[in-house]
Amino acid sequence: MDLLKEKILKEGIAVNENILKVDSFLNHQIDTNLMMEIGKNFATYFQAKNIDKVVTIESSGIAPAFTTAHFLGVPLVVFKKQNSSILNQDIWETTVHSFTKNSDYRLTASKKFLKENENILIIDDFLANGEAVLGASRILNAAKCKVQGVGIVIEKSFQPGRCKLENAGFDVYSLARIARLGNGVIEFI
Ligand code: G4P
Repeated sequence: MDLLKEKILKEGIAVNENILKVDSFLNHQIDTNLMMEIGKNFATYFQAKNIDKVVTIESSGIAPAFTTAHFLGVPLVVFKKQNSSILNQDIWETTVHSFTKNSDYRLTASKKFLKENENILIIDDFLANGEAVLGASRILNAAKCKVQGVGIVIEKSFQPGRCKLENAGFDVYSLARIARLGNGVIEFI
């Protein structure tokens, strides 16, 4: 998506070889016009998949997932990162390991918003190691939902996320695919 790539080149900062800072339009401040265009793009790509619901993982996935759900005309369901809720029967939960942050977190979803056989589109802001999407898909599998696709705003293609998701059988569509980051360098595939 050219508009997104231009924005990344203009405002993105390669902090090091692994991390791209995009605080000015995706993580801390949000460019609402860009999010609308992102939502239209994802909705167009996944239009034929009869999506019933969009799912994202809080928090930075919410903005692009919201506009995607809006243009698809379906609800958005947000999966939460929260402390143990073992006594709560009304939620699905799984543990996700973040390689970027070198820590585990508990991902939860409210059972009442996931129905058997629903077609789900997962949207997230970054794809690094793929663990957040795999965690979300474990929950969706438990809920007997069908993951019809994965939409990613920024994919770091030099990390293993795409490969892991494709091996798991997912249709992965990324709007910007980064081949290399370095000191002042951002290269797309
Ligand atoms: P994975 O799901 O692909 O395995 O990703 P990983 O755990 O490695 O990444 C953990 C968090 O770090 C995620 O945010 C992800 O969006 C973010 N992240 C990964 N690489 C980058 C990067 O190059 N730049 C930026 N800006 N973020 C990156 P999170 O913990 O879920 O935070 P948030 O969604 O609440 O913002």
